[in-house]
Amino acid sequence: MSTHNKDRRDFVKKSSLGMLGLALAPSIISKIGPHNRLRTAHIGVGGMGGEDLKAISSHPLVDVAALCDVDSTRLAAAKKMHPNAKVFSDYRVMLQVMGDDIDAVVVSTPDHTHAPASMMAMNMNKPVYCQKPLTHHVTEARDMKKLAAEKNLVTQMGIQVHSFYDYKLATLLIQSGIIGKVHTVRAWSPKNWGFDGKAPKGSDPVPETLDWNLWLGTSAERPYKEGVYHPGNWRKLMDYGCGTLGDMGVHIFDTPYNALELDVPRTIKNECRKPTGFGYPENNVVTYEFPATKHTAETLKWVWYDGAEAPKMHEDLKLPGAKDKSKKGKGGKATVKDIMSLETKATGTGELPEQGAMFIGEKGRLLLPHFMELPKKIVNGRYVDISKEIAKVEKANNMGKPIRNYGSEGPKHYHQFVDACLGRGECSAPFSYASRLTETILLGVIAGRFPNETLHWDSENAKFSEEEANQYLESPYREF
Ligand SMILES: NC(=O)c1ccc[n+]([C@@H]2O[C@H](COP(=O)([O-])OP(=O)(O)OC[C@H]3O[C@@H](n4cnc5c(N)ncnc54)[C@H](O)[C@@H]3O)[C@@H](O)[C@H]2O)c1
Repeated sequence: MSTHNKDRRDFVKKSSLGMLGLALAPSIISKIGPHNRLRTAHIGVGGMGGEDLKAISSHPLVDVAALCDVDSTRLAAAKKMHPNAKVFSDYRVMLQVMGDDIDAVVVSTPDHTHAPASMMAMNMNKPVYCQKPLTHHVTEARDMKKLAAEKNLVTQMGIQVHSFYDYKLATLLIQSGIIGKVHTVRAWSPKNWGFDGKAPKGSDPVPETLDWNLWLGTSAERPYKEGVYHPGNWRKLMDYGCGTLGDMGVHIFDTPYNALELDVPRTIKNECRKPTGFGYPENNVVTYEFPATKHTAETLKWVWYDGAEAPKMHEDLKLPGAKDKSKKGKGGKATVKDIMSLETKATGTGELPEQGAMFIGEKGRLLLPHFMELPKKIVNGRYVDISKEIAKVEKANNMGKPIRNYGSEGPKHYHQFVDACLGRGECSAPFSYASRLTETILLGVIAGRFPNETLHWDSENAKFSEEEANQYLESPYREF
């Protein structure tokens, strides 16, 4: 076992054995709270945590029992909405004090705290809803999956679009063979959660409202700088977030991953700038190759583009009606180079949706905008009507009426978790699924440390063939 691994295991063991000198809460064997209601505890209640709190507590059988945030202004705002909830700044204290007065835990912190907080909760037999990406490191994702399985816990990763009507429809259409076996997926987001600048020098006074030590949690000590880390900007930085791939990639890759029943990739290459050790690169083109599944050709290539200019244009992405600039004054056929210079923003006029994925198969291409739009099939450069195929899939799967309203679709994924905790139905993105999807994403993030080099992943042994890359599969846990 490596030292890093040992640090992690020690942390998890100690935190679940009363490292704070508090008595160990008895295990909750039943997944159902008293009176068939679910008492929830929320770790991170600002930003997305606020949305998570709203969506979970909109379930009629939920009582919000505890709220935890390291930022007292955010905690106070959440407490206003849930005056009966107990409040904490340290999730370890919250879990120990609340013990068997809570039935389930929601983790909505920055990525580096997902695993430490979730592992502690699961060690106490609590079902966990954890935001995406499931973890900050590959080993943590595998540990989360293992523990959830050993304890047979209800779990759900926060990829709410996974439960939306259109994503389910797209998944079923692809599995029905609407474009035959798929050989390539190209997906993109122009969001930029990278940072090509230098690490800031010096430090700023920590605001009185923020517990910086608790924010850093298990990550290494670092001086506080205003606006660089908290809130939100931690995404751009290697020690806390996972860049654009770990942010939007998890959502957009979810459909191809689920529809094509992919496992983890064999090779990964990230074309980006050289690492600085502080921020993630701003523009990434990440190419994965996966072994075949029953829905794919012999290999499946998946290409991800992010950053301001994403996607880089490719013939696979050319839409019907796109202006072919190459024909101006030339009269000839467009070359790939010409196509690559086409404008790609906005929708409706032959231009790609701002974010989305294109599936390329033996019988055509399927464009899936992110999100809440119907997929579009393209054959020989023209859109084709797929309303009959859609009706067939909808009927065969009892899908009911299409819903394209975020207000109705938004809470679905959360309510599914609450219902599963109460013994009614199952979650659609449990950690058994989420850990593999997260591992795949994180392998692309690691590949960014070795620009333009193809890395080979040995899933069985959880290692790269390139020894140097293995050091990034985990990181030591600080005692805090
Ligand atoms: N599913 C989605 O659509 C979606 C959208 C946005 C964010 N997210 C995810 O939600 C998570 C939070 O992102 P965000 O944009 O809200 O970040 P943020 O920085 O705006 O908010 C994080 C919140 O957690 C609190 N926090 C930080 N460390 C904590 C700790 N140790 N204990 C308790 N509270 C702590 C912060 O004070 C803040 O209130 C991330 O994992 C992100 O990927 C998901």
